[in-house]
Amino acid sequence: MSGKTRVAILGGGDVAQHTYIPGTVRQAAAGAFEVVALCDMVPGRAESLACRYGIPRHTTRFDDLLADPGIDAIVNLTPPTFHAEAIVRSVEAGKHVYSEKTIATTLTDADRAIEAARRAGKVLAVAPALMTHPDLREVQRLIASGIIGKVCYVRARGSHPGPAWLLDYRTDPTWFYQPGAGPVVDLAIYPLTYITAFLGPAKRVFAFSGIAIPEREVRAGEARGKTIRVGIDDNTQILLDFGEACFAHIDATFVVFSSKGPRCEIAGSRGVINLAAEPDDPPFEVFIDDPDRAFRGWVTPEKVYRGRLNPPREPRDQVEWSLASGVGHFVRAIEGTEELILRPEHARHVLEIILGAYASATDGHARDLVTTF
Ligand SMILES: NC(=O)c1ccc[n+]([C@@H]2O[C@H](COP(=O)([O-])OP(=O)(O)OC[C@H]3O[C@@H](n4cnc5c(N)ncnc54)[C@H](O)[C@@H]3O)[C@@H](O)[C@H]2O)c1
Repeated sequence: MSGKTRVAILGGGDVAQHTYIPGTVRQAAAGAFEVVALCDMVPGRAESLACRYGIPRHTTRFDDLLADPGIDAIVNLTPPTFHAEAIVRSVEAGKHVYSEKTIATTLTDADRAIEAARRAGKVLAVAPALMTHPDLREVQRLIASGIIGKVCYVRARGSHPGPAWLLDYRTDPTWFYQPGAGPVVDLAIYPLTYITAFLGPAKRVFAFSGIAIPEREVRAGEARGKTIRVGIDDNTQILLDFGEACFAHIDATFVVFSSKGPRCEIAGSRGVINLAAEPDDPPFEVFIDDPDRAFRGWVTPEKVYRGRLNPPREPRDQVEWSLASGVGHFVRAIEGTEELILRPEHARHVLEIILGAYASATDGHARDLVTTF
């Protein structure tokens, strides 16, 4: 391969329109890679978006992307039930793949996707991209440095009112309320990913789960006014056991309209780290209890932006971070300038937690977790 990595986007739905198309086009304009094609099966959708964002090629057929020798990498933004197939077909066609979450809907399919990428010698990166965010990397570094001692307990939020309630959701959100999706896959996957990045693989999972609000009316977008029969649990409470009496609790629901609680609290034997409740809050705060220095209280570390924190960092993309920043990281992993953080084995472990949570909720027994990363 010579020149810039040529990226195609598969799926031009809500997240593509809100985040990935603008985000990747901005990164491409800054010289990071090229965005050469867009595919969506809905007639006219890819065409109008390609036209709007200056993407040279568009199609309604995934096969066209696979057959195109001018495409090095595919960014898969289809619903989760199509992810494993999209990954396998892409790598077998010689393309690197960045897939939105989840990697698959079964562990067998996750294994199949990982094995196909390995066989083809292609990079497979899996969202969510949160661990490429400098703040979360900094929290990971602080925990590893022992600043809060031994982590004992984590509490994290994975809830909102559900996409049918959101006033800026553009497409038909019905699939979010059906098997293969739901709040665990859609929302709790974020804390499940960063908590396991901080603490390593979990050992056991247990959950309570059910449907609390069985019907939803879509409030906005192209399906406005539609009533959705909820076909997957919209209220799940997950407990994780990391061993040595270190536990985590994650709520995973479409029933929380708003919350003033922190996004996540990590309690250790010598302190606490608190992730911001709101985007305008400091990204994280640390409670330190240090008798040697007679210091006890919350501190707000200086922002990690602009490399002002120790240890100094490499200058990052000039483009503001968004979920689409994961694509920049993916391309740098393809080009060998960055080690892959969004590893598919990590995504598979998180999928095992998700499936184990649902299984435990049906029979009341905790599930041992066997995958690692
Ligand atoms: N919407 C969000 O805010 C959001 C945020 C983060 C992650 N995600 C993830 O992004 C993915 C997509 O979510 P969304 O909300 O954009 O869904 P969506 O339904 O709005 O978009 C999916 C798009 O993929 C297209 N598509 C599906 N199968 C296809 C195929 N075989 N060939 C071509 N096009 C195909 C559909 O026509 C649709 O336009 C999901 O994995 C979701 O979990 C969504």
